[in-house]
Amino acid sequence: MNNIKNKKKSSNGSKKKLIIEHLHDIQAKHGFISEKELKKLSFQTKKSVAELYEAASSYAYFSFEKKPEKLIKICDSPVCHLKGSENLLKHIEKLIGIKVGNKNSKVGLETTQCLGLCDQAPVIQINDKFYTKLTKDKIAQILKKQKIL
Ligand code: FES
Repeated sequence: MNNIKNKKKSSNGSKKKLIIEHLHDIQAKHGFISEKELKKLSFQTKKSVAELYEAASSYAYFSFEKKPEKLIKICDSPVCHLKGSENLLKHIEKLIGIKVGNKNSKVGLETTQCLGLCDQAPVIQINDKFYTKLTKDKIAQILKKQKIL
Protein backbone atom coordinates (compact mmCIF):
# COMPACT_ATOMS: atom_id res chain seq x y z
CA MET A 1 0.00 0.00 0.00
CA ASN A 2 3.01 2.27 0.11
CA ASN A 3 2.70 2.65 -3.61
CA ILE A 4 -0.86 4.01 -3.61
CA LYS A 5 0.29 7.41 -4.88
CA ASN A 6 2.23 5.73 -7.70
CA LYS A 7 -0.76 3.65 -8.65
CA LYS A 8 -3.00 6.71 -8.61
CA LYS A 9 -0.68 8.37 -11.09
CA SER A 10 -0.08 5.36 -13.30
CA SER A 11 -3.55 3.88 -13.36
CA ASN A 12 -5.61 4.88 -16.37
CA GLY A 13 -8.50 2.68 -15.34
CA SER A 14 -11.49 3.38 -13.20
CA LYS A 15 -11.41 3.87 -9.43
CA LYS A 16 -12.77 0.34 -9.08
CA LYS A 17 -9.83 -1.03 -11.06
CA LEU A 18 -7.45 0.83 -8.77
CA ILE A 19 -9.16 -0.58 -5.69
CA ILE A 20 -8.98 -4.10 -7.13
CA GLU A 21 -5.24 -3.61 -7.71
CA HIS A 22 -4.80 -2.67 -4.04
CA LEU A 23 -6.90 -5.62 -2.94
CA HIS A 24 -4.66 -7.88 -5.06
CA ASP A 25 -1.61 -6.42 -3.33
CA ILE A 26 -3.11 -7.14 0.10
CA GLN A 27 -4.14 -10.67 -0.89
CA ALA A 28 -0.67 -11.38 -2.33
CA LYS A 29 1.13 -10.00 0.72
CA HIS A 30 -1.00 -11.55 3.50
CA GLY A 31 -2.74 -14.46 1.79
CA PHE A 32 -6.11 -12.99 2.73
CA ILE A 33 -7.83 -9.64 3.29
CA SER A 34 -8.22 -8.84 6.95
CA GLU A 35 -10.56 -6.26 8.44
CA LYS A 36 -7.47 -4.32 9.57
CA GLU A 37 -6.19 -4.09 5.98
CA LEU A 38 -9.64 -3.10 4.69
CA LYS A 39 -9.75 -0.27 7.25
CA LYS A 40 -6.28 0.92 6.21
CA LEU A 41 -7.28 0.85 2.54
CA SER A 42 -10.53 2.62 3.40
CA PHE A 43 -8.58 5.46 5.00
CA GLN A 44 -6.18 5.70 2.06
CA THR A 45 -8.76 5.52 -0.72
CA LYS A 46 -11.56 7.40 1.07
CA LYS A 47 -13.91 4.51 0.28
CA SER A 48 -16.00 2.91 3.00
CA VAL A 49 -15.06 -0.52 4.29
CA ALA A 50 -18.46 -1.74 3.03
CA GLU A 51 -17.67 -0.54 -0.52
CA LEU A 52 -14.27 -2.22 -0.42
CA TYR A 53 -15.76 -5.42 0.95
CA GLU A 54 -18.40 -5.40 -1.79
CA ALA A 55 -15.75 -4.91 -4.48
CA ALA A 56 -13.59 -7.73 -3.10
CA SER A 57 -16.43 -10.17 -2.58
CA SER A 58 -17.30 -9.96 -6.29
CA TYR A 59 -14.20 -12.03 -7.01
CA ALA A 60 -13.66 -15.61 -5.87
CA TYR A 61 -9.90 -14.93 -5.84
CA PHE A 62 -10.11 -12.81 -2.70
CA SER A 63 -10.33 -14.49 0.67
CA PHE A 64 -11.40 -12.91 3.94
CA GLU A 65 -9.91 -15.52 6.19
CA LYS A 66 -6.44 -16.91 6.50
CA LYS A 67 -6.05 -20.06 4.46
CA PRO A 68 -4.19 -23.08 5.81
CA GLU A 69 -0.66 -23.73 4.56
CA LYS A 70 -2.01 -26.54 2.34
CA LEU A 71 -5.57 -26.43 1.05
CA ILE A 72 -6.80 -29.68 -0.47
CA LYS A 73 -9.75 -29.33 -2.83
CA ILE A 74 -11.36 -32.49 -4.11
CA CYS A 75 -13.58 -32.23 -7.14
CA ASP A 76 -17.05 -33.55 -6.45
CA SER A 77 -18.67 -32.73 -9.77
CA PRO A 78 -20.42 -35.55 -11.69
CA VAL A 79 -17.49 -37.08 -13.60
CA CYS A 80 -15.18 -37.20 -10.58
CA HIS A 81 -18.07 -38.40 -8.45
CA LEU A 82 -18.70 -41.30 -10.88
CA LYS A 83 -14.98 -42.09 -10.80
CA GLY A 84 -14.99 -42.48 -7.02
CA SER A 85 -14.25 -39.06 -5.54
CA GLU A 86 -16.53 -39.79 -2.56
CA ASN A 87 -14.46 -42.80 -1.49
CA LEU A 88 -11.25 -40.86 -2.07
CA LEU A 89 -12.56 -38.04 0.08
CA LYS A 90 -13.27 -40.44 2.95
CA HIS A 91 -9.77 -41.88 2.49
CA ILE A 92 -8.19 -38.42 2.65
CA GLU A 93 -10.22 -37.54 5.76
CA LYS A 94 -8.93 -40.69 7.45
CA LEU A 95 -5.32 -40.02 6.43
CA ILE A 96 -5.16 -36.39 7.53
CA GLY A 97 -7.60 -36.61 10.45
CA ILE A 98 -9.69 -33.69 9.24
CA LYS A 99 -13.27 -33.83 7.97
CA VAL A 100 -14.27 -32.06 4.77
CA GLY A 101 -15.12 -28.40 5.37
CA ASN A 102 -12.62 -28.12 8.21
CA LYS A 103 -9.10 -26.83 8.51
CA ASN A 104 -6.29 -26.06 10.90
CA SER A 105 -3.30 -23.80 10.33
CA LYS A 106 -1.47 -26.52 8.37
CA VAL A 107 -4.14 -28.18 6.24
CA GLY A 108 -7.71 -27.71 5.07
CA LEU A 109 -10.04 -30.00 3.15
CA GLU A 110 -12.94 -28.95 0.97
CA THR A 111 -14.91 -30.12 -2.03
CA THR A 112 -15.05 -28.06 -5.17
CA GLN A 113 -16.89 -27.89 -8.46
CA CYS A 114 -15.33 -29.15 -11.69
CA LEU A 115 -11.64 -28.34 -11.98
CA GLY A 116 -11.72 -28.67 -15.76
CA LEU A 117 -9.78 -31.92 -15.94
CA CYS A 118 -12.74 -34.31 -16.25
CA ASP A 119 -10.96 -36.57 -18.75
CA GLN A 120 -8.42 -37.30 -16.00
CA ALA A 121 -10.88 -37.80 -13.13
CA PRO A 122 -10.83 -38.08 -10.20
CA VAL A 123 -8.95 -34.86 -9.54
CA ILE A 124 -7.70 -32.97 -6.48
CA GLN A 125 -5.99 -29.63 -6.17
CA ILE A 126 -3.49 -28.80 -3.42
CA ASN A 127 -2.85 -25.07 -3.44
CA ASP A 128 -2.07 -24.35 -7.11
CA LYS A 129 -1.11 -27.89 -8.13
CA PHE A 130 -3.48 -30.45 -9.71
CA TYR A 131 -3.33 -34.23 -9.29
CA THR A 132 -5.27 -36.46 -11.65
CA LYS A 133 -6.37 -40.07 -12.16
CA LEU A 134 -6.20 -40.56 -8.43
CA THR A 135 -6.18 -43.79 -6.53
CA LYS A 136 -5.94 -44.36 -2.77
CA ASP A 137 -2.25 -45.30 -3.15
CA LYS A 138 -1.48 -42.21 -5.23
CA ILE A 139 -3.14 -39.95 -2.68
CA ALA A 140 -0.97 -41.18 0.19
CA GLN A 141 2.15 -40.57 -1.90
CA ILE A 142 0.98 -37.10 -2.91
CA LEU A 143 0.18 -36.13 0.68
CA LYS A 144 3.64 -37.30 1.77
CA LYS A 145 5.30 -35.40 -1.08
CA GLN A 146 3.33 -32.28 -0.11
CA LYS A 147 4.52 -32.81 3.51
CA ILE A 148 0.93 -33.09 4.72
CA LEU A 149 1.54 -36.61 6.14
S1 FES B 1 -15.78 -33.32 -12.85
FE1 FES B 1 -13.95 -33.34 -11.72
S2 FES B 1 -12.57 -32.24 -12.96
FE2 FES B 1 -14.46 -32.09 -14.00
